[in-house]
Amino acid sequence: MRSALFSFNTRHFLVVVCTLYLTSCCNGEPASVAAGDSSSNDGGGGAPMESGEKAALFSAIQGFVGNLWNGSDLYPDPCGWTPIQGVSCDIFNGLWYVTELSIGPVHDNSLGCGPKVEFRPQLFQLKHLKSLSFFNCFIKHPVSIPPNNWGNLGPTLQVLEFRSNPGLTGQVPTSLASLVNLQSLVLIENGLTGGLPANIGNLANLKRLVLAGNRFNGRIPESYGLLSKMLILDLSRNQLSGPLPSTFGGLTSLLKLDLSNNQLQGNLPSVIGNLKNLTLLDLRNNKFSGGLTKSLEGLTSLEEMALSSNPIGGDLMGLQWHKLQNLVVLDLSNVGLAGLVPNSVAELKRLRFLGLSDNNLTGKLLPELATLPCLSALYLNGNNLTGDIQFPDVFMGKLRRRFGAWGNPNLCYPLEMVSPSNAPYGVKPCQLGEEEDVKLLKLNANSKWEKRGNITNVGQNDSGGFIMASWGSPSLAICGVWWVLLVEIVVVVLCSGSC
Ligand SMILES: *[C@@H]1O[C@H](CO)[C@@H](O)[C@H](O)[C@H]1NC(C)=O
Ligand SMILES: *[C@@H]1O[C@H](CO)[C@@H](O)[C@H](O)[C@H]1NC(C)=O
Ligand SMILES: *[C@@H]1O[C@H](CO)[C@@H](O)[C@H](O)[C@H]1NC(C)=O
Ligand SMILES: *[C@@H]1O[C@H](CO)[C@@H](O)[C@H](O)[C@H]1NC(C)=O
Ligand SMILES: *[C@@H]1O[C@H](CO)[C@@H](O)[C@H](O)[C@H]1NC(C)=O
Ligand SMILES: *[C@@H]1O[C@H](CO)[C@@H](O)[C@H](O)[C@H]1NC(C)=O
Repeated sequence: MRSALFSFNTRHFLVVVCTLYLTSCCNGEPASVAAGDSSSNDGGGGAPMESGEKAALFSAIQGFVGNLWNGSDLYPDPCGWTPIQGVSCDIFNGLWYVTELSIGPVHDNSLGCGPKVEFRPQLFQLKHLKSLSFFNCFIKHPVSIPPNNWGNLGPTLQVLEFRSNPGLTGQVPTSLASLVNLQSLVLIENGLTGGLPANIGNLANLKRLVLAGNRFNGRIPESYGLLSKMLILDLSRNQLSGPLPSTFGGLTSLLKLDLSNNQLQGNLPSVIGNLKNLTLLDLRNNKFSGGLTKSLEGLTSLEEMALSSNPIGGDLMGLQWHKLQNLVVLDLSNVGLAGLVPNSVAELKRLRFLGLSDNNLTGKLLPELATLPCLSALYLNGNNLTGDIQFPDVFMGKLRRRFGAWGNPNLCYPLEMVSPSNAPYGVKPCQLGEEEDVKLLKLNANSKWEKRGNITNVGQNDSGGFIMASWGSPSLAICGVWWVLLVEIVVVVLCSGSC
């Protein structure tokens, strides 16, 4: 168990690292240099800060932190030798100006917000502000995003973020659309309500729009489909309803589309197949219907397709699944699918997770699924699959608890093929009624053993068990850790290379 946990974490870690890397690349913004980092300021060689700018900075911060915070006392030279955590500066025409302002407890010595928070007009007088972000700042007293003054920041502001501010309520002001140079608008996990402003769709430079985890309702504006430079669009975890606009076919640069956990309905528009660079499509927990549109097979870059818990209906037969060669995660659980699982699903060589649970699928389980080299989770529970599970013991041993087949009343597993520890949960062993069946089964089983050699014992002690054994030996304990790590990395590398 320990090794299983460890391996999961390692893999997870790598995924996280990759994701971070991708996100930072896709952002198109260089990593910001905090004022605390001496490198950003040394170049100034004692250049002064514009006095109006300094006063505006102090006052703006005081509005968030509280009146007891006295900037000129604490930080007489905020862009120089008394840097403020969360404030970055740059020189324009020989004078220091603030380029980034980040409020909230990100680091130990960050600017934390006081109990009463206000947006002072001075905030909008910072002439070269490129990035403004708030994290965990508006908690108790409800505050709204100010309706005016954003136009002042229009020429410079590229990044605006409000993260985890439960006290940030009210609607998104339409005046945010005056931030014409905005590349990233992130309003995640706040208490925002109302509809999504349609004129955000005019922000042609937007690459990331994240409005997840609020209480937005109404429809997704069609204008969002005009954002052809958009890379990441996340409107998940709101109360959005209505259709997925067909204008979304215009989001041709899009890498990630997450609309999960809303009440969106209607057909999946066929224009969705235009999104050739899309790697993530997450529409889980909505009310989409009308079957799986054939154009989904045009999403050739797709790595994760998660459509679970939608009344989509239809079947799997209409799509040539093998065209989605990059698919790593395919989650089609609880979408009302009927019929057979086509062979083309078993040609998705990079697949790690396949979820088809809680549908109305019928027919036999494809034995070819066991040949997918990276498959490590397979959920088929809650269907009407029939016959015997023809998966080799090694495969069952690899998946263990990540194999779900219960709730298929007419499914069974051949007792002879699967070692007791790998027996699938909630599936009965095949009942051998007639003598004919017994002979047939034995024949089958025997031929399988021959092909795979003497694998019976190995199956019971899979690689996990082997690793455990090396952990157990004290002299090898340290090696064991590295060995596990090495194996995991090799597995990940092999898989990302060959799968
Ligand atoms: C900050 O402190 C200085 C004296 O060190 C004082 O003159 C000034 O009025 C104070 N400012 C605020 C806003 O309290
Ligand atoms: C899709 O990705 C490729 C490779 O990264 C890139 O060259 C191309 O410009 C992208 N297409 C769009 C429409 O952004
Ligand atoms: C499965 O099909 C049966 C009969 O056609 C139907 O009654 C049932 O609601 C379906 N179940 C699901 C989960 O779609
Ligand atoms: C499951 O499939 C069998 C035929 O293979 C059929 O007789 C039975 O009614 C189905 N059960 C459900 C719940 O659809
Ligand atoms: C498996 O190995 C045992 C000895 O370890 C041997 O007796 C048996 O014949 C082998 N079975 C097969 C199918 O090779
Ligand atoms: C696994 O191997 C260990 C020794 O390496 C052995 O003690 C144990 O009985 C084996 N487990 C099974 C299920 O065969």
